[in-house]
Amino acid sequence: MKEKNILEVNHLKISFKTLDGNVQAIRDVSFSLKKGETLAIVGESGSGKSVSTKAITGLLPKNLTNIEDGEILFNGKDLLKASNKELTKVRGSEIAMIFQDPMTSLNPVMTVGMQIAEAIMAHTRLDKKTALDRAIKLMEKVEIKDAAKKAYQYPHQFSGGMRQRIMIAMALACKPKILIADEPTTALDVSVQARIIELINELKDEFDTSVIFITHDLGVVANVADRVAVMYAGRVIEAGTTNEIFYHPQHPYTWGLLEATPTLSTEDDQLYTIPGNPPNMANLKPGDPFAPRNPYALGIDFVTEPPMFRVTETHSAATWLLDDRSPKITPPLDIQARYVIYENLMGRDKGESVADYNEVAIAAFETANELGPKTFDDAVAAVEFLEV
Ligand SMILES: Nc1ncnc2c1ncn2[C@@H]1O[C@H](COP(=O)(O)OP(=O)(O)OP(=O)(O)O)[C@@H](O)[C@H]1O
Ligand SMILES: [Mg+2]
Repeated sequence: MKEKNILEVNHLKISFKTLDGNVQAIRDVSFSLKKGETLAIVGESGSGKSVSTKAITGLLPKNLTNIEDGEILFNGKDLLKASNKELTKVRGSEIAMIFQDPMTSLNPVMTVGMQIAEAIMAHTRLDKKTALDRAIKLMEKVEIKDAAKKAYQYPHQFSGGMRQRIMIAMALACKPKILIADEPTTALDVSVQARIIELINELKDEFDTSVIFITHDLGVVANVADRVAVMYAGRVIEAGTTNEIFYHPQHPYTWGLLEATPTLSTEDDQLYTIPGNPPNMANLKPGDPFAPRNPYALGIDFVTEPPMFRVTETHSAATWLLDDRSPKITPPLDIQARYVIYENLMGRDKGESVADYNEVAIAAFETANELGPKTFDDAVAAVEFLEV
């Protein structure tokens, strides 16, 4: 039986009025979310991750924003048609958001315990004392030590990681159906990042919350997401299960993002960066906005933007390379290594006895090495660090 989507964003188009004219920030975004599922939205700065999720909870500046097309179905109801009153209710009790900088969302002159308690009281009939007790329990749940004491402190007395935990506690105070986490770990140390992600995962399982996790860092996605949507210049350009995006990516932009993601064996000075910059959204040229940065661009990319091509039932990508008429190209070596891993994963899923993993991988790299720029040793190293 096909599970129902709790959220469906269909063909969303949003522009902003600016001094430079109309900026078409979201050009055709669709994604969906099932109950208990985590969707990661990934892409460079300005690709439209925040705008498309702020649209869900009606947090875009009304006087500057023009929602041109699309629908946002939450349990089947279009939030774009909801009244302010309805949206306020949804925001508080059904869809919660946490942001990169918790300081902007916390009240500096109210104790953190009271802020969480207020979030609880807004959606229950609990009195202040009971709400505060529950707030302290939530603080314990997000692993704030001495919660009973810390509840009486103010946000500035907490570190960045601790403030993010308070935001998570506040978000959970109303047991939301969906938690939207917009770069919640970007400002934090790597070890704190990892713990916050674990915490979101644990709480998600406990409350059966669906999560939209926004990040520009594909590296954190593998530990978080069931599915991934990659955005570029206001569009979702590739979407699939986490395995499909990590081990069978089809879009050259996704290839670039993966190659730009540090792994255990990458040294800082070797890290690849995608050449060039994202386009100016106020002045988009015809064709695929990624074409000027795309080493695999075809002639048609400069003329006509590619549609979404279906790869599997769960995987699609907007690249002309998937059109039957396109020339067959050889992806970068690291990506070929990932394809080998994907085949292996698929074989394992089907219970096939798969050929020895290393043998297959090395054979793939021998072929790839004749075409690719890297040495055979690099290729074997690539397989080792990609191994799952
Ligand atoms: N209020 C606004 N007025 C005009 N343009 C805006 C406004 N808000 C966002 N934009 C534009 O919309 C586009 C998408 O922005 P968005 O904030 O969604 O990017 P993002 O993917 O979240 O990036 P980041 O990783 O930096 O957070 C950008 O080109 C941005 O300049
Ligand atoms: Mg953003």
